[in-house]
Amino acid sequence: MASDDGLQDLRAEATRAMEKAYAPYSGFRVGAAVQTAEGTIHGGCNVENASFSVTMCAERVAIGAAVRSGGRVLRRVYICSTSREPVPPCGVCRQALSEFGPDLEVVSEGRDGRVRTWPLGDLLPEQFRLEEHVPSEGDGTEASVEGPS
Ligand code: THU
Repeated sequence: MASDDGLQDLRAEATRAMEKAYAPYSGFRVGAAVQTAEGTIHGGCNVENASFSVTMCAERVAIGAAVRSGGRVLRRVYICSTSREPVPPCGVCRQALSEFGPDLEVVSEGRDGRVRTWPLGDLLPEQFRLEEHVPSEGDGTEASVEGPS
């Protein structure tokens, strides 16, 4: 890995992934690459659908590729797109990223070459974590079997 801690490799994978984007409806191509704690890199592109809500963002496709390869801790995501300016990840992808990298670094590059960087915690404060809200067994706060009345 180069002395830039893999940043250029990450950028290259995000760029390659963007070239594969399937975006016939929006024409907006996005590529993302995630870097795991082990240093492995996994790319994804947006995959659109005629039923628009089925569309997958590039970030979530990259997360799926990482998990498929055994990656469970994400350190960084690099995003590039056909936008002139660096795009931040959408809200759904922020939550998806937080599952595997609550402190990860988000790097985004626009066509103009400008790069922006955010800690995920700045883009998504108060991240939702189920374990913080599910009562533990025997503490008297389990939901009743009848459910709320
Ligand atoms: N898109 C992404 O891939 N990532 C984002 O963070 C924002 C949006 C894609 C989804 C859709 O294919 C297109 O951009 C327009 O919303």
